[in-house]
Amino acid sequence: MILPITAYGDTVLRKECEELEEGADLSKLINDMFETMYDARGVGLAAPQVSKSLRLFVIDAAAFAEDDPESEEEKMEQEFLKTFQRTFINPIIEEETGPEWPFSEGCLSIPGIREEVFRKRDIIISYFDEKWQLKEEKLTGLAARVVQHEYDHIEGVLFTDYLSPLKRRLLKSRLTDISKGQVDVSYKMRFPKKKR
Ligand code: NI
Repeated sequence: MILPITAYGDTVLRKECEELEEGADLSKLINDMFETMYDARGVGLAAPQVSKSLRLFVIDAAAFAEDDPESEEEKMEQEFLKTFQRTFINPIIEEETGPEWPFSEGCLSIPGIREEVFRKRDIIISYFDEKWQLKEEKLTGLAARVVQHEYDHIEGVLFTDYLSPLKRRLLKSRLTDISKGQVDVSYKMRFPKKKR
């Protein structure tokens, strides 16, 4: 089932999410989140984006593997991204290291806006997968990037929070428009300030 994606301005996107009880049956919610993410052509979706304040997100970064690789290193990264489909339950970023690098990020809750965000290159993350198996993974580059963005969501943080005060001021009216539903978007959304 495709769920409406919560738009910028909703308080659910600003909460620190709740941990899930170990062993809880999440299969329906996880399936719905993947379906919702694919429908919206996203590479990641966090539970608060479907109005559930839970420490859960899903990722499928295969769409990032479509560019022509320019080096052996890039080719290897793309091969990895093709298989980088994961469910993260109660994740903890154990370590963030490496140089900060810029990437133009977007967010399904903030349609039409992309801005450059700097993040550290490498992470170690522990989490439960959809079968409640405890995992630990070392990730780098784009795979780490998507996880960092989604992890922020369950902490109530949005990528726009990292922008300079000037950039934020320039975007303010567009962000207000998004919260009111005054935006062109091809997928189903829930707007906190839309007049009915
Ligand atoms: Ni997002």
